[in-house]
Amino acid sequence: MSAELVLAIETSCDETAVAVADGLGRPLVNRIASQIKLHAPYGGVVPELASRNHSLDLRPLLDSALSGAGLTPREIGLVAATSGPGLASSLLVGDTLAKAVAVGLGCPFYSINHMEGHLLSPFLHPHRQIDPHVALIVSGGHTLLIKVVAVGDYRLLGSTKDDAAGEAFDKVGKLLGLPYPGGPEIAKLATEGRRDAHAFPRSMVTSGDLNFSFSGLKTSARVLIDRLGAVPRGEELADFCGSFEEAIVDILVFKLIEACRRTGLRLAAISGGVSCNQRLRERLTAATEKAGIELILADPAFSTDNAAMIAFAAASRRLAGYPPSPLDGDINPNLRLA
Ligand code: KG4
Ligand code: ZN
Repeated sequence: MSAELVLAIETSCDETAVAVADGLGRPLVNRIASQIKLHAPYGGVVPELASRNHSLDLRPLLDSALSGAGLTPREIGLVAATSGPGLASSLLVGDTLAKAVAVGLGCPFYSINHMEGHLLSPFLHPHRQIDPHVALIVSGGHTLLIKVVAVGDYRLLGSTKDDAAGEAFDKVGKLLGLPYPGGPEIAKLATEGRRDAHAFPRSMVTSGDLNFSFSGLKTSARVLIDRLGAVPRGEELADFCGSFEEAIVDILVFKLIEACRRTGLRLAAISGGVSCNQRLRERLTAATEKAGIELILADPAFSTDNAAMIAFAAASRRLAGYPPSPLDGDINPNLRLA
């Protein structure tokens, strides 16, 4: 069994992450060294700071992940790393160390698309079979609707034409003077606010396709702040956040249900950092129940960036018969999923 253990490294953006999983991709240890505090003063991720800290943090994190699982490197049977999309200098740190470990141990190396990690993460815990389904991935950089036929067989149904949902949360959080990342901060404030205090646009719900657009929503947030004459505070801020969050949730719920209707699939899964959003989880649960669709929500622990999802994707690809990746393969900051 030990020869089957998977070691995964994720350094695509600002989280340094290492995980060890069993041959089915079930996590044994999942470690993250977050850089959020480091980038917070800049209101966003600073690429050079991110890569320098990945190289400082990765080696000790790897050691602690292995010792945390009571393992020595010799017990690893497969090494995986995120090869894109993400920040080039950040991706290179994890990719390079993972390849070095694979060479040192003489074991196969799998380069994994970060978005495939998110996509499959709802099936990781509780562990279950990856059946055909509609996947909604809502992360900081992507908003994607994918028809998943099988592991590695993904068809793009829709994507954002401009900003991602997480990006809209973060940019509007910045406009409101909230700490980075804005998503969780807006979500916290929204629980105290009215959902119908402001009529933010529900962009693209009548577009007739499964694409998204969130930049108009961000602009209307800016226009509203200008109209209010100052950044809202107290109750006004809660109302702003409640109404803004509701607009994003409405759009995501509408498009996911529509994607299921169009594909005829009765199983849906949602992943990525924004899928931690409590309001989104509640509204999606109610809407899918009403439509007779089974919904799988990624465990919040595996929704924001982590390496357990990369280990799970690598194990799933291996089990599905995909060959290892070449050791001279490149990273790709713009890697596509479908
Ligand atoms: O998947 P992720 O960790 O990183 C990327 O691959 O981009 O997603 C990060 C995004 C950020 O935009 C963050 O604001 C958002 O997820 N996020 C949330 C919540 N938690 C994280 N957005 C809304 N509500 C939340 N509770
Ligand atoms: Zn991510």
